[in-house]
Amino acid sequence: MNEASLYSKYNGLQKNDASFVIDNYLRLIQWHNNENILDVGSGDGDVILELLLPKLPKNFNKFVGTDISEEMVQFAKSKCNNNSKIDFLRLDISSSNVPPEFHEYFDHIFSFYCLHWVVEQRQALKNMFDMLKPGGDMLLTFLARNPIYDIYENMAKSNKWAPYMNNIKKYISPYHHLDNPENELENFLKKEGFISHLCRVEERSYTFPSFSVLSKSVSAVNPFIKKLPENEIDNYIEDYIKEVRKLETVTIESYNNNNNNEEKIHVPYKLFVAFASKPQ
Ligand SMILES: C[S@@+](CC[C@H](N)C(=O)[O-])C[C@H]1O[C@@H](n2cnc3c(N)ncnc32)[C@H](O)[C@@H]1O
Repeated sequence: MNEASLYSKYNGLQKNDASFVIDNYLRLIQWHNNENILDVGSGDGDVILELLLPKLPKNFNKFVGTDISEEMVQFAKSKCNNNSKIDFLRLDISSSNVPPEFHEYFDHIFSFYCLHWVVEQRQALKNMFDMLKPGGDMLLTFLARNPIYDIYENMAKSNKWAPYMNNIKKYISPYHHLDNPENELENFLKKEGFISHLCRVEERSYTFPSFSVLSKSVSAVNPFIKKLPENEIDNYIEDYIKEVRKLETVTIESYNNNNNNEEKIHVPYKLFVAFASKPQ
């Protein structure tokens, strides 16, 4: 991930999907008094603070947002006005150990748009299992398949960009090339001991209002940009946009916006929604 402030301005797609999941799936969770809640990969904190917390019962004990990036953690912390019930801290969800104080500490775990960044899926799920109390549950949403990954693969084949994209596999959703990604995720959940109540791939789409917004949104999450020399970044984004134009699944529509000719970019993709619990 790149700068927290850029992500915070250009996370419309991620927020749109978080709202969709909250509106449609939050009802699966049963709440009790004084519960502890974890969010994995909380990023800039917007989804938690603006979208999730207003929909949760107010009688929880603690809400902990975690992220691998210290910059994201500090950015999110700065927004929560010293609310003593909410904390943000650094945690790599795929690390070999989770803090001992979090062992069986949480009643509910959320994760929005994080787990496609994690190659070690089993370790991440194992850690979440470990941090849940018996009977606790988790609601996850993340990318199963996205044309972004096809673009990464195409660009990584070019002589020009290959040197900056040699660890590309690390940044492609582990489910992107699977015919039945939901079967794979459900298997992983069961192998780690979860009861899987719902493991679904939602067909989603998002419309970027212009290539300028698309470019900024790409810059906010593209993991290769920070490896590029400063003077190559614009060139990389231009090539990226050329790749977007080549994709058959993407639809581009011209329109007039205040006497400017603009193009909307309609991108379809597949999003996991999973709800699972730890046995009592
Ligand atoms: C696209 S952002 C999503 C942020 C927020 N949940 C949202 O929906 O807007 C993905 C976040 O996952 C974090 N992340 C990536 N790998 C991680 C890992 N192994 N453990 C914890 N967080 C991770 C990134 O630093 C980034 O902040």
